[in-house]
Amino acid sequence: MAFYKNACTSIVSTIIIIVIWSKVAESTGIGVNWGTISSHRLSPTTVVDLLKDNNIKKVKLFDADPGSLKALMGTGIEVLIGIPNDLLEPIASSTAASDLWVARNVSRYVGKGGINLKYIAVGNEPFLSSYSGQFQSYVMPALTNIQQSLAKANLGGLVKLVVPCNADAYESTLPSQGTFRSELMQIMTQLVAFLNTNGSPFMVNIYPFLSLYGNSDFPQDYAFFEGSTHPVTDGPNVYYNAFDGNYDTLVSALSKLGYGQMPIVIGEVGWPTDGAPGANLTAARAFNQGLINHVLRNTGTPLRPGIPPMDIYLFGLLDEGAKSVLPGNFERHWGIFSFDGQPKYALNLGQGNKLLKEARNVRYLPSRWCVANPSRDLSGVANHFKLACTMADCSTLNYGGSCNDIGVKGNISYAFNSFYQITKQNSQSCEFDGLGMITFLDPSIGECRFLVGVTEYSKSIGCGLDDRWAGGSLLIIWAVWIFMN
Ligand SMILES: *[C@@H]1O[C@H](CO)[C@@H](O)[C@H](O)[C@H]1NC(C)=O
Ligand SMILES: *[C@@H]1O[C@H](CO)[C@@H](O)[C@H](O)[C@H]1NC(C)=O
Ligand SMILES: *[C@@H]1O[C@H](CO)[C@@H](O)[C@H](O)[C@H]1NC(C)=O
Repeated sequence: MAFYKNACTSIVSTIIIIVIWSKVAESTGIGVNWGTISSHRLSPTTVVDLLKDNNIKKVKLFDADPGSLKALMGTGIEVLIGIPNDLLEPIASSTAASDLWVARNVSRYVGKGGINLKYIAVGNEPFLSSYSGQFQSYVMPALTNIQQSLAKANLGGLVKLVVPCNADAYESTLPSQGTFRSELMQIMTQLVAFLNTNGSPFMVNIYPFLSLYGNSDFPQDYAFFEGSTHPVTDGPNVYYNAFDGNYDTLVSALSKLGYGQMPIVIGEVGWPTDGAPGANLTAARAFNQGLINHVLRNTGTPLRPGIPPMDIYLFGLLDEGAKSVLPGNFERHWGIFSFDGQPKYALNLGQGNKLLKEARNVRYLPSRWCVANPSRDLSGVANHFKLACTMADCSTLNYGGSCNDIGVKGNISYAFNSFYQITKQNSQSCEFDGLGMITFLDPSIGECRFLVGVTEYSKSIGCGLDDRWAGGSLLIIWAVWIFMN
């Protein structure tokens, strides 16, 4: 009896374990993109603590930044390392360059006590239409070379290679009609065959915000997950949100190439909070929370019922105030945290915490700001304003931004302060020919935050210079620019 009972118990518990395990195995992993194009960088250990405190177990990096990788060592956090597009050509054309990339940027960080490396992304959206094909021919040879270099370094079985694609790689008016862009057909055929052979997923970046931003006819509610008054009917299937519609367009495109079952990972997805009319806290929260709840419900999409994306990486972790604003002023405001690790809104990542936890032990510069001197005539300020906003971030001043209505004087103060903070409060950087003035009273107005920089990371301004030198060289550029105007 006892034997049977025990056997039965163990069979039942085995079944329970299998059920639980398959449940865990199929649910989507929630990760984040950790970009570092910022003039006010938190130290990598502060960021890694932020990830840990928020139970974020997957992170995607755009390059092999040594500081970030060192801080991730021994944490168990699953890491994706990106190879930037401009390295594709050298890596594609030389196995030595590929070996060197792996040796310098991968081998030294893996192994016992190292990083938990899951993926290497070869290029970042290399097929983007606006690149006009300039990286296209390097992708397959770069993949092959990196694969061989990894095998030589005995890392072959450890890492999966992926190629994050922008959703502009495929097109269609209806999800079921999705196909890859005709000029990409050949390369996509090769790419998906390669991915399939290596057990890699297809990685895609999906941005309903950009559809809304770029198209005034796009139905607002279709971008979110609360149901839509403009659902898209596609034969027997009805789509209530842009994300599912886009995702199934990709599923169709993959099916046409014979890989309808290929796993999909969302490399980037998110919503910005500032710098454009549709970019605000309420919308970002609604989108990100809606998305997380949607994928964690495991409902999947009409073409893949019950199979949500394998992983999603939110874009992004932190605001990056030094990104190019060419795509729009919202570009510097994608973070679920501000540049200094403060949660922007209530978000439940579904990883245990109900709310985001803020970064600990952030070291700020002293509480002081640079503003326009109220007793001075500001008529000669135009050049100063322009240069300050070229060097530092003024994106919130524009239409749709949180600082758009603070008036002319407010604008000038904001620009002065942004510049003053990126020079790490170098006192000369608040001169502006006597038009600037340092204040100890926070000049923030309503939603418009006048920031105080962080002292943490000395590589902030780049060029390998330390802060003092970087501040100094900015001032020299400044002086020359003012002189030439
Ligand atoms: C990676 O390796 C290459 C050498 O092939 C090097 O030029 C590059 O700076 C390294 N670091 C990063 C962040 O890519
Ligand atoms: C926030 O953005 C959404 C659309 O993205 C818009 O409908 C809403 O009006 C905006 N809210 C504010 C307060 O601007
Ligand atoms: C403040 O600056 C922004 C960006 O340059 C501009 O769009 C806005 O009109 C300015 N506001 C005033 C009152 O001049």
